[in-house]
Amino acid sequence: MPHPNYVIDEMISAKSIAARIEELAKAIRTEFADTDKLVVVGLLRGSFVFIADLVRELDLPVEVDFLEASSYGDGMESTREVRILKDLRGQIERRDVLVVEDIVDTGHTLAHVTKFLLNRKPARLKTIALLDKPARREVDLKADWTGFEIPDEFVVGYGIDFAQRNRNLGFIGKVRFVEDA
Ligand code: IMP
Ligand code: MG
Repeated sequence: MPHPNYVIDEMISAKSIAARIEELAKAIRTEFADTDKLVVVGLLRGSFVFIADLVRELDLPVEVDFLEASSYGDGMESTREVRILKDLRGQIERRDVLVVEDIVDTGHTLAHVTKFLLNRKPARLKTIALLDKPARREVDLKADWTGFEIPDEFVVGYGIDFAQRNRNLGFIGKVRFVEDA
């Protein structure tokens, strides 16, 4: 059975996310106050809601670009082998770059993407993740800014999916499996 029954319990409300994004945007504005034009790079697909809300709070000149790295497929476990499936459209050499990720879990994805982009010699590269699951880390890495640290639970909503579902929830919820009725 591809989709066992599950329910979603709210973990972080839409209101808490919005309040946290205001704080994060303030810190980013301070860091990049002198930028000519910040390249904000969203990692597809999980960061699409977060990046949309974040850039609208930034009040800086920004260019938005996207990168897609291979991830979970439809499962709940990381494959650990990260590949770039879709590259940026724009140049980042000597530019200021902010990489926007939905969740740092094992850390393999962000580690790989950071290395990949640093090869292009940006002037400055910073990272932000909405969520962080430190208990699951396999690579020693931390995003420069994190929205919320969460326990080792599988979460959905606010752009984040389980087998391509639930990205359109306004809040972050945790997946809880239930017995068949
Ligand atoms: P990492 O390479 O293990 O750090 O995995 C990062 C990616 O795994 C994130 O960008 C998410 O797409 C995905 N991921 C990690 N945890 C979850 C989760 O709880 N729900 C849905 N996707 C997740
Ligand atoms: Mg992802």
